[in-house]
Amino acid sequence: MSVAEILDDLEYGPAPESDAEAREWLAQHADGTQLFIDGEWRKPASGQWFDTLDPATGAVLARIAQADGTDVDAAVAAARQAQAPWAALPGHARARCLYAIARLIQKNSRLFAVIEALDNGKPIRETRDIDVPLVARHFYHHAGWAQLMASEMPDRAPVGVCGQIIPWNFPLLMMAWKIAPAIALGNTVVLKTAEFTSLTAILFADICRMAGVPKGVVNIITGDGATGELIVRHPDIDKLAFTGSTEVGRKIREASAGSGKALTLELGGKSPFIVFDDADLDSAVEGVVDAIWFNQGQVCCAGSRLLIQETVHDAFVAKLKERLTTLRVGPPLDKAIDVGAIVDQVQLDRITSLVEQGRSEGAEVFQTALEPSKGGYFFPPTLMTNVHPASTCARVEIFGPVLVAMSFRTPDEAVALANNTEYGLAASVWSESINLALDMAPKIKAGVIWINSTNLFDASAGFGGYKESGYGREGGREGAFAYTKPKWIAAAKPIEEAPVKLAAIGTEPGFAGIDRTAKLYIGGKQARPDGGYSRAIAAHDGSLAGEIGDGNRKDIRNAVEAARKAAGWAKASEHLRAQILYYIAENLEARADEFAGRLAMLTGERKGRARREVEAAVARLFAFAGWADKYEGAVHRPPFTGLALAMNEPVGVVGIVAPEAPGLLAFVTLMAGAIAAGNTVVMVPSEGQALLATDLYQVLDTSDLPGGVVNIVTGDRRALGLELAKHDAVDAIWAFGPQAMAEAFEKASAGNLKQTWCETVARDWNDEAVSGGREVLRHATQVKNIWVPWGE
Ligand code: NAI
Repeated sequence: MSVAEILDDLEYGPAPESDAEAREWLAQHADGTQLFIDGEWRKPASGQWFDTLDPATGAVLARIAQADGTDVDAAVAAARQAQAPWAALPGHARARCLYAIARLIQKNSRLFAVIEALDNGKPIRETRDIDVPLVARHFYHHAGWAQLMASEMPDRAPVGVCGQIIPWNFPLLMMAWKIAPAIALGNTVVLKTAEFTSLTAILFADICRMAGVPKGVVNIITGDGATGELIVRHPDIDKLAFTGSTEVGRKIREASAGSGKALTLELGGKSPFIVFDDADLDSAVEGVVDAIWFNQGQVCCAGSRLLIQETVHDAFVAKLKERLTTLRVGPPLDKAIDVGAIVDQVQLDRITSLVEQGRSEGAEVFQTALEPSKGGYFFPPTLMTNVHPASTCARVEIFGPVLVAMSFRTPDEAVALANNTEYGLAASVWSESINLALDMAPKIKAGVIWINSTNLFDASAGFGGYKESGYGREGGREGAFAYTKPKWIAAAKPIEEAPVKLAAIGTEPGFAGIDRTAKLYIGGKQARPDGGYSRAIAAHDGSLAGEIGDGNRKDIRNAVEAARKAAGWAKASEHLRAQILYYIAENLEARADEFAGRLAMLTGERKGRARREVEAAVARLFAFAGWADKYEGAVHRPPFTGLALAMNEPVGVVGIVAPEAPGLLAFVTLMAGAIAAGNTVVMVPSEGQALLATDLYQVLDTSDLPGGVVNIVTGDRRALGLELAKHDAVDAIWAFGPQAMAEAFEKASAGNLKQTWCETVARDWNDEAVSGGREVLRHATQVKNIWVPWGE
């Protein structure tokens, strides 16, 4: 027998990691864990605890405190009191705290790794080599942001008190992703762990004390979804950050609508893993292992849909099956285990029933053999073939070690299949052709693209989704920004709108005697309103200024369809977009007198002032033309051999409800900002000054702007905005108006989880720093990180 044969036949011996220290730590909490509020440990006001189990055995590990309203109030009050002094500290002082946390995590890394494996069921190999190092890295990286905030973000302030709710799949890592940026940038937090996995956060609270984090800056409470809801609805919280299911994310969007709370959501996924026939198939097989069998597949960005080019489909599936049989499923604390236990019986049941449903829908199911276990929640790594793209298992997030495989013929078909999902968190592309891989990356609608790699994360590169995978990024500069707000907001006044004056039908036209009924502007053409009604717009003196079309739901539908069809605008070169914006400016300038006259007539302003607004609008078009090819991405250098390219991509179709005033400047600002970034828009202009927007049609028509890039529907802003907010083909809703408007729009946006920018305070539209650049462009774009490895 050769040595190779002997090695092949050798059985794995058990290689258990000792849990002695972890058990000792658990014994210290034998009376039940407590809540970390205002720098001290407190028993829950409810006097109630619930069990947390070891998923590998089903045995009770600890009893976890159930926080109720009294506890949440106390935690929020502590965070509120601590916030201003914490924010007032020099960045260096905060940086030292984060640095100390990172060091202490490293010093206690093994204890963290063992407790995490015990509590979650994930293999020690992963907690030790992935979770804990990434946690430390996150605090190190954000110590840097604390230090640099004053110089790098001079116009930004902390948001305030942050309510943070995390899931159970990466308990410690998700906690780090939430807490590190928040406290680095001067916020304080109330963080709620997931009910299945609270232990490492409790250990972390002690680390905060040791690191000298002032009391009240970090508050950690435990409890179930009801506790989460109390955080979401708490009136004294300024920002919510949530990671978890899309279903709960939707509820949080609805519950927080109109509250003025900032919101970031990191939700579910059904990410494609695309293998081209020129890929290194053996590497791709290892990629699949890391994509879907890492963390038992309980990963929001798991590569759970395998798309294989038809020519290599059978060969690849054969290799994958062979590899699958070598995966070792077993006790998480065994260092030679690949796949551990599912977090809880509920999740095990959910996975089991989805696989059974897949089988009944015709899928062929291939699984590894599972050794009988004593009471744990184990599920074998599973590959499902003969799956139709429309079947349940190909669409629903299974959140387990289950891969569904399908085939495709051409790159276009791969893109179509990849994007055939309501989610958009991540994608992996495998090809030895760099041209092909980099051509795919912008076409896939997802926040992270891994080329010839998968499941790579780093604090320097933002992570987050497109579409129903949520919005906002964690990590990177953009993730840090999400924990800040512009400084000008502190002194801003709420928007108040007077009822719009309509002229009585039959009054005489007040503007040079011209009686005109402006139509809507859809797909580059003027269109009559579907309802056949128009509105008589009053001049400032009450006389009839003109009539505008009274748009309705059908008009909004047509306009959205036109905007969708014009999606090619995103692919236009930035140079071309800039040229067209300059051209619009030129044509507006040529008619400046006419616009100023109209403005003066509508608002009663002096001609000189009106003229200045037109000039400001022209300058604003120049500003965004300038930005069109300068709002660039970044090249990150995460600690791996390669790059992560952060690209600013357009959001898609943006529905924009412009403020009542200034009718021209605000309209032009929002339009120009959105289209400079490659979006297409459906705009609802000011009601009282809608005639300015309708006057713009000719300007747009003569400026080479492709039809459908800008669509304008006039009428009732609230009714039309609500249609936009509800519409599933609209990707973002921007609105500037009173609180009630924001509430209605934000609530309606929950349907497809569109991005929202609903501002209820008056901004200075004239100030170029405030309204003429990055702040608008940040809303107009979403960051896609493309990871490109190099080397052999
Ligand atoms: P979940 O979304 O219910 O739980 C996540 C967190 O939200 C937990 O801390 C929970 O206590 C809290 N929560 C629950 N209801 C809430 C509410 N109404 N308001 C505020 N907070 C609330 O996820 P769950 O039930 O643990 O898992 C169900 C499914 O969700 C999984 O099978 C998986 O498909 C998906 N999921 C996805 C995750 C991701 O990262 N994409 C993470 C966890 C779950």
